[in-house]
Amino acid sequence: MCGIVAYKGPKLNAGKVVFDGLKLLEYRGYDSSGIAIHNNGNVEVFKKKGKVKNSEKLFKNSKISSNIAIGHTRWATHGEPSDVNSHPIVSYNKKYTIVHNGIIENYKELKSLLEDEGYKFQTDTDTEVLVNFIESCTSKSEDFAKGFSYALSKVTGAFGIVLMVNNNPDILYAARKGSPLAIGQFNGNFILASDASPIIKYTNKIIYLENDTFLKISGNSFKIFDFKLKSKNKNFIEVDLELQKVELGKYDSYMLKEIMEQPNSLTQTMLGRVKDNDITLGGITDENGNNLIEAKRIIIVGCGTSWHAALTAEYFLEKYLKIPVEVEYASEFRYREPIIYKDDVVFVISQSGETADTLEATKIAKKKGAVVLGIVNAVGSSIARETDEGCYLHAGPEIGVASTKAFTSQLLVLFMIGIKAGYLKRHISESKYYKMINQLKEIPSKVDEIIRESSLIEKVAKKIYKKDHCLFMSRGNNFPVALEGALKLKEISYIHAEGYPAAELKHGPIALIDKNMPVVVICTKSDEYEKILSNVMEIKARKAIVIGVLDPKNFHMKKHFDHYIEVPDTSKDFSPIINQIPLQLIAYYCAIYRGCDVDMPRNLAKSVTVE
Ligand code: AGP
Ligand code: GLU
Repeated sequence: MCGIVAYKGPKLNAGKVVFDGLKLLEYRGYDSSGIAIHNNGNVEVFKKKGKVKNSEKLFKNSKISSNIAIGHTRWATHGEPSDVNSHPIVSYNKKYTIVHNGIIENYKELKSLLEDEGYKFQTDTDTEVLVNFIESCTSKSEDFAKGFSYALSKVTGAFGIVLMVNNNPDILYAARKGSPLAIGQFNGNFILASDASPIIKYTNKIIYLENDTFLKISGNSFKIFDFKLKSKNKNFIEVDLELQKVELGKYDSYMLKEIMEQPNSLTQTMLGRVKDNDITLGGITDENGNNLIEAKRIIIVGCGTSWHAALTAEYFLEKYLKIPVEVEYASEFRYREPIIYKDDVVFVISQSGETADTLEATKIAKKKGAVVLGIVNAVGSSIARETDEGCYLHAGPEIGVASTKAFTSQLLVLFMIGIKAGYLKRHISESKYYKMINQLKEIPSKVDEIIRESSLIEKVAKKIYKKDHCLFMSRGNNFPVALEGALKLKEISYIHAEGYPAAELKHGPIALIDKNMPVVVICTKSDEYEKILSNVMEIKARKAIVIGVLDPKNFHMKKHFDHYIEVPDTSKDFSPIINQIPLQLIAYYCAIYRGCDVDMPRNLAKSVTVE
């Protein structure tokens, strides 16, 4: 999910071009960086965990000047952030050096093939498998292009790569399958990058490499081919982006960008895991998979939005695993001397992987002998390293303080785990297993349908943004969705908001209802929606402004609402992911109308690393 910058040309200082460009890509989130540079017949690599300036300092001390270099900022997916796992990565026989954005799905199969050929690996990354596979295929081929295109066509997953030929400083290769790559050419100079920002200060004539194509730069010219070696046209486009806008693309804030990119982040979360008719979770071994299936109790620990994901998972896991689930605030769990048994399985959920309370809760659960599994976004983070095993979200860096895409990816990972375990426990039949897998695959497009109607949701937000209070209510597995919707609204618009189980309102909160109180009711298809309707009647009788989140099965309820938002029909089990999207957008638009800073709301931090 991070950044590539490469330069080849007669005029400029390759090291400076690369590092200036990497700094422009830092907004994409990263955990390490590096550069490889041709120097008097050798390729030198300078790479370091942490900020770009760390690897830049190493490079500057070398005093190397060159006219060809490749650089990278890494957002780790395979192999924790470390100096050795940083890019660029050199192939085993030192023929090539690579930088890579993306995820190689079939890296395990390719790695065992290469090990059988005698390849040894220095890193834990999928990228090293890719560069060694390229080296192996090209060494067996009559010419490089044939071997290179063969290797690229055998790789599944996503990549944007630039490949340096270690014994030839006059050549650079690049290839794309999924992860974007842009190329700029000017006066015999070439700049390649993950987006336009490092290029547009030199030229605004840019080519965006198409999927399943590769490019060869030789001397001061270049050619583009598809993976069948058919020559492709060079379609230059003129980009007129101002530099500062490129970082966010077409969005005004990271929060909006991260809401809008959920179809992609949800797809990335399933990449390599949800296949034709099976779910494979590489991060959890069979041993711990069995520990989960045999567990007498499941405990799920988290804070804030992650705690809401835990509460949502409770409904799903109890339903399909028939194992009691307890959900705990990490801050409470860690101080109350929790009773933990060795046959407990504890899930810890954390986007940042650095939340202090969740980290301490993790350590306590481990010390007490439970199996501890992480549901974390940041690869190699403290919580991820503390857990026994787990599943990364692969949602990409979440920069906005209010968690959006991480929440929906947390739910998706928990649903994948629950479906697989429920199937292995024979509580989910084979036909239901296949049906649920297909329902998971439809989620990104259903989310996209809602996002395409965001202007209608904006209209609803415009009705309530001036209010000082707002309630959210639902029932069943959408009750935690109400809690999360309330948290989103209060943390970025500062409107006081609370979420409740719909039946709870008459036990006190209904005293708050009057004509100034908007109430958002999530009442998509469920066994309880007739009951929710009677709760709606109760608050309407007290003049509440009632906003409904409805799906086609419930459109007959529209007449009972002052405003409503339509979401696509989906299975009740997975509706929390779908129903959260309009609530994220209501919070976003209310905050915008109230002139709030949606990316950095007052008093909040992205990762609460203090107690
Ligand atoms: C979510 O919008 C908030 N920013 C906050 O509640 C967050 O979910 C909580 O601090 C937990 O963070 P984590 O998932 O990184 O552990
Ligand atoms: N999957 C590769 C790794 O983990 C690349 C990650 C990235 O896109 O930065 O090293």
